[in-house]
Amino acid sequence: MRPPARGAGSYAAAMADEQTTRPLAGRRAWVTGAASGIGSAVAERLAADGATVTCVDVDGPAVGAVAERIGGTALTVDLSDTDAVAELAVDTDILVSGAGIQHVAPIDSFPVQRFELIMRLMLHTPFLLVRAALPGMYRRGWGRVVHISSAHGLRASEYKSAYVMAKHGIEGLSKVTALEGAPHGVTSNCVNPGYVRTPLVERQIADQARAHGLSEDEVIDTVILAKSAIKRLLRPDEVAAAVAFVLGQDLMTGTALSLDGGWTAR
Ligand SMILES: NC(=O)c1ccc[n+]([C@@H]2O[C@H](COP(=O)([O-])OP(=O)(O)OC[C@H]3O[C@@H](n4cnc5c(N)ncnc54)[C@H](O)[C@@H]3O)[C@@H](O)[C@H]2O)c1
Repeated sequence: MRPPARGAGSYAAAMADEQTTRPLAGRRAWVTGAASGIGSAVAERLAADGATVTCVDVDGPAVGAVAERIGGTALTVDLSDTDAVAELAVDTDILVSGAGIQHVAPIDSFPVQRFELIMRLMLHTPFLLVRAALPGMYRRGWGRVVHISSAHGLRASEYKSAYVMAKHGIEGLSKVTALEGAPHGVTSNCVNPGYVRTPLVERQIADQARAHGLSEDEVIDTVILAKSAIKRLLRPDEVAAAVAFVLGQDLMTGTALSLDGGWTAR
C-alpha cells in the first residue's frame, strides 16, 4: 500500500486540526445581548471557535466594540420593539438568545409596563427570532438554538415574577423547537446558570447590600448564593464554554443544562 501523498495527508491533518481547534469554522451565529456580560463572552467564544458572529444589542457603542474586537458584525436593535424584530432577516446557522433584564418587586405592586417589557424582550422576541431563523436552518439541514435561560427557568424566587415567567416560558419554546426541529437537523437547548458576575448581577448585589445593610461579600454569601451549595459566582466565560459544548452535540436537544452550584438539586 502506498503512503498517502504528502500534500493530501497534511491537508487532512490540517482539516482535522481545524475541527478540533475551530469547531464552528464556516458557521454563522447570531448572539443577542452581545454587548455585555454573558452575551459578550458567548460572542467571543463562538468567534474563537471559528464562527462568523453577528452581535445584536440595543447598546450600539458597546456592541460595536465587541464586534470589532472579535471580527464580527454589530447589529443595533431594541429587541423589546417586536415590530422592529419582526422585520429582521435572521439568516444564521446558530442562534444564541441572551438579551435580558431583571426587575425585582412583589406581584401586587409589580409595574405593569415593566412586566410587559420583560415579556416582549425575553419571550416574544426569542419566539420571533427562532421563527425567522428556522426556515434557513431547515433548508440547510443543520441548526442550533441556545437560550440563555437561568436557574429561574426551573425554580422560582419571590419578587421576580416577570423574570421567572419569561425564563419558564423560554424552556417551553426551546422544547417545542427541539421537537419540530429534530427532523431538520436543528437542536434547541437552554443553558441555565445560577448567578454570574455580570453588570446585571453587580446591580442586584449593590441594591441588596443597601436594602439589607450588609457588605457586598455578605450579600453574595447569604442572599445571592443562599440556595447554591457552591458559594461562588460563575464567570461569563464558563457560561460561554457551556454554550460551546451544547453547540457541539448532535443528540442533545430539548434539555436544560444547569450550571448552578447545586441550586436545583434542592
Ligand atoms: N448574570 C446572571 O447571574 C444570570 C444568571 C442566569 C441567567 N442570566 C441571563 O443571561 C442573560 C444575559 O445576562 P447578563 O447577566 O449577561 O446581563 P447584562 O446586563 O450584562 O447583559 C444583558 C445585555 O442585554 C442587552 N439588552 C437589554 N435590553 C435590551 C433590548 N431591549 N434590546 C437589545 N438588547 C438588550 C443589554 O444591553 C446587555 O448588553 C439574560 O437573559 C439573563 O437573564 C444571567
